[in-house]
Amino acid sequence: MNVIESVLRVIHVVNAVLMAWPFYTLVLVNQRARLGPPLGDRADTYLENIIKNRTVPCFVFQATALVTGLAMVLVSGLGIGALLTHPALGVKLLLLLLIGGLLAYVNWGVQPRLDALFAQAGSPVPAETAAQIGRLRLWRKRIASTCLFVVLTNTMLGVQAWVAFPAWLTLVLVAAITLFVWRAFRSLTSYGWA
Ligand code: HEM
Repeated sequence: MNVIESVLRVIHVVNAVLMAWPFYTLVLVNQRARLGPPLGDRADTYLENIIKNRTVPCFVFQATALVTGLAMVLVSGLGIGALLTHPALGVKLLLLLLIGGLLAYVNWGVQPRLDALFAQAGSPVPAETAAQIGRLRLWRKRIASTCLFVVLTNTMLGVQAWVAFPAWLTLVLVAAITLFVWRAFRSLTSYGWA
């Protein structure tokens, strides 16, 4: 492996670690749910500010994954056609585009609606507004879980980028990732894996 390939690989893997943010967002929002009422106090301002200020870093990490991933394909000498001949690579690209779209949708579609609801709510938050906020937050949480699933699946596919695992093993690993994401969605994952 030459220097360029080595550096690209290190950047790609470190970047993948930094893309674990959806997991920690789920920890954060599950802790907020545990805290309970009142809705619309400083805890919510703090939470919403943290979440919306991660959008630009998330776009940067997605772009880094895209650029370093495609660069690794090119410097491997296989050419861009490897995205078709190596299914893991093609799927990785599609999944990355999917979470790019989801991030854009949350940033420009969901978050402004949440911000507007909080801004107009006053204190205490009326029951109807609280219900709307709850629905939008649940929707955003489901999208964050999808992003976590994609990041973990793309990591698993990265290990088999050049030499594919048997299909059954890939399916077992996807099932394990799904289970983990489900636990992260539902619980505080107090023991790390569960
Ligand atoms: C969410 C986005 C992505 C994540 C989290 C991710 C994660 C990873 C990780 C952790 C590895 C290292 C596996 C290992 O060292 O054995 C890897 C390898 C790889 N990834 Fe990605 N990846 C992403 C997107 C992409 C994209 C879009 C491409 C390009 C189509 C790509 C191409 C590759 C290649 C070629 C390797 C193999 C590197 C090597 O071992 O030589 N990745 N990926």
